[in-house]
Amino acid sequence: MKKALVLTVNGERHELLVPADATLLRVLREELGLRGAKRGCDTSACGCCTVHVDGRSVYACAVYALSIDGSEVTTIEGLGEGERLDPLQEAFIQAGAVQCGFCTCGMIMSARQLLDEVPRPDEEQIRHAIAGNLCRCTGYAKIVDAIKMASGS
Ligand code: FES
Ligand code: FES
Repeated sequence: MKKALVLTVNGERHELLVPADATLLRVLREELGLRGAKRGCDTSACGCCTVHVDGRSVYACAVYALSIDGSEVTTIEGLGEGERLDPLQEAFIQAGAVQCGFCTCGMIMSARQLLDEVPRPDEEQIRHAIAGNLCRCTGYAKIVDAIKMASGS
């Protein structure tokens, strides 16, 4: 049986009917067509599905959508303004921190929360912030460089 859910996603209010066991990831990807958050493991292990709920990074695969009824959700599609990319998105491109790209959206969402809280983080803070986001391609060095670049440090 479906239940009513209200979510504000990237500033837009949505009224939905979803199954009780629908995860936030499923709602974002399948109901709202927002495919930035990836389904990597679906078991809270990879961080590819990271989004913000009321300003905090969460694994969207690990959250029942109905448990956050009324919340504000931000996904990678909600960063930046119009055609202008978020400085982190720009820095990931400039630093060559994107290879297959599967981890990238989740990585940037974790980094965005860090920079919102700590505008000039040191390397240890950066590595700690992305510890829950796995990347199988880059070796992390360029990702760390990109986050430093975006922070201006
Ligand atoms: S898909 Fe959510 S943590 Fe891997
Ligand atoms: S760029 Fe491929 S997993 Fe990170």
